[in-house]
Amino acid sequence: MKKIGLFWGSTTGNQEEAAELIQKHMEAAGYEVDSYDIRSTDLSKMLEYSNLIIGCPTWNVGELQEDWEEVFLEYRKLDFTNITGAFFGAGDQISYSFNYLDAVGLLAKPFMENSGKLIGKWSTEGYEFDESEALEGDKFLGLGIDNDNEEELTEERLASWAEFIKDKFE
Ligand SMILES: Cc1cc2nc3c(=O)[nH]c(=O)nc-3n(C[C@H](O)[C@H](O)[C@H](O)COP(=O)(O)O)c2cc1C
Repeated sequence: MKKIGLFWGSTTGNQEEAAELIQKHMEAAGYEVDSYDIRSTDLSKMLEYSNLIIGCPTWNVGELQEDWEEVFLEYRKLDFTNITGAFFGAGDQISYSFNYLDAVGLLAKPFMENSGKLIGKWSTEGYEFDESEALEGDKFLGLGIDNDNEEELTEERLASWAEFIKDKFE
């Protein structure tokens, strides 16, 4: 069975809940999914998977969630050759409109620079924000959710994104 390593960090639980839902969707699509809280996981574990889903909320105005922040310097040095990766993040479009979803950009860019194959870019249609590090052209580098303002859309967004990425892994 094809495997996915799902690595996430979460301070107040939103990203964790989203990771649980993504895990369910990918398992329903036929993958074996190993889920890791980055707080208690050795980063090198990521390199044991050829398929990755990475989840990080944005914190502290444009920064990574604290557990990702801890490992970021090491993360930036990883070689992602032959690894396919998808990114998703929780954020707040209203209170942090100039930094919405920044963490997805902060993690997705080094992944691509270090030879990872990025999948799962997502349309910005339906989102309202001013600026984001996660933007590439008119798309986000991964899925954005916003439980602070649009919690009612989260399940649907996760389901649609899971559907979109499920055939794109190796
Ligand atoms: C102090 C603080 C700073 C935040 N900064 C940002 C930010 O810069 N950009 C953003 O999109 N969301 C920001 N957020 C919103 C969080 O990303 C959002 O609440 C998220 O759901 C938290 O995820 P977690 O529950 O998994 O930790 C911030 C929230 C707080 C409380």
